[in-house]
Parts: sequence; C-alpha cells; structure tokens
Amino acid sequence: MRPVALILLALALCATVACADYKADLIEQYPFYKTATGDFAPVYPALAQQIVEDYGVTEGICIDMGGGCGSLAMALSKITDLTIYVLDIDPAAVRLCGVLVDEAGLRGRVIPIEGDAQNMPFRNRFADLVISRGSVFFWPDQLAGLKEAYRVLKPGRVAFIGGGISRVLDQAIKRKLVEARGTSKQTGGPTRR
Ligand SMILES: C[S@@+](CC[C@H](N)C(=O)[O-])C[C@H]1O[C@@H](n2cnc3c(N)ncnc32)[C@H](O)[C@@H]1O
Repeated sequence: MRPVALILLALALCATVACADYKADLIEQYPFYKTATGDFAPVYPALAQQIVEDYGVTEGICIDMGGGCGSLAMALSKITDLTIYVLDIDPAAVRLCGVLVDEAGLRGRVIPIEGDAQNMPFRNRFADLVISRGSVFFWPDQLAGLKEAYRVLKPGRVAFIGGGISRVLDQAIKRKLVEARGTSKQTGGPTRR
C-alpha cells in the first residue's frame, strides 16, 4: 500500500474511533440512555402512535420538553411530518440526541436544543403540539413549565405532558415493565390551549 493511502486509512480509523469515544462518553454522562434504549425502548413507538391517534397532529412544529436523547421525538417523527424540537436542560442529553438523530437519518426533522422547560427559547404561539414524557417530575417549578407549554402553543393546540407508559403498548411488554418497575402509571390526558 502507498504511504498516502496508509495515511488516509489511519486518518479514517482515527475519525471512527473519535466518533465512538464521543458517543460513549456522552452515554456515560447521560445514564438514562441505557433505560431509553433498553427495556423501555418499546414504549416510545407506542406512545407516538397513541399521540397521533388521540390528537391527529401530523405536521407543523412539535416541542418535546425534557426530551432527553430524543427517543419519543424520533419515534414520532417516523410516523408524522412534524419538525420536532427536543429541548433538554442536560447538555450531554442534547449532544447525544444529536448523534442519535444523525445515525437515524433524521437531521433537520428532529432538532436537539439545550434549554429549561420553565423558560423555553421559543417565541409565543410557535408550536402545533407540545409533548413531554417523564420530565415534569423534575421541574422545580412545574406551573412555570405548564405556563411555558401554553405560551408556545398556537391557540387551540394540545400539550401532552406526563409520565409512564403508553395505553397502546403491547400487553405482554406492559406487564413485564410494570412488574420490573412496580408501577402501573400511564401517561395521562391532554392539556388544551
Ligand atoms: C427521565 S428523563 C426522560 C427523558 C425523555 N423524555 C424520555 O422519556 O426518554 C427526564 C429528562 O428531563 C430532563 N429535565 C429535567 N429537568 C428539566 C428542565 N427543567 N428542563 C428541561 N429538561 C429537564 C432531564 O435532563 C432528563 O433528560
């Protein structure tokens, strides 16, 4: 092999290793990734399906408040034409979301953004849909977060904020999750603007 080819090969290998390290470091910094991609993974497509069935919002702007590494947003983007902003306060979650979005070929459709659910960097009446799963419990001022959801929603649009697992999740998977976690909570109903 020619020296130039060898150098190019070495550079390509270094780039691959650097990418892997970047993602692995972020996974270490954001431990919820392992839950989201582990036993909890089937929850997201089921929840996305439930949201579409219940509210029928399939285009326009969606904001996922405390969206973590983007699991729900990516599931929702695969069955709709929504552009989804994944807002999270944790910089590692936001960066990891960027990696996962690229890997899924969803760049531009799912947009990670760092920010606080209680004071979001979006203009009034920006969104057609607001979603949030498993994050509201961590907001120090939940009322401020709910007011923010109201502020950024277009009039008459809906916010789906709560926790737990989807109503439409396969029963066998649901039973396993409930047994493992000792909870039967399901993500609740909508808040209309
Ligand atoms: C249990 S994880 C759920 C993540 C994601 N919604 C999911 O279901 O995969 C909770 C997330 O809420 C985020 N979070 C907590 N407080 C927040 C705040 N004030 N603003 C935005 N995100 C917040 C955390 O960083 C974390 O990513």
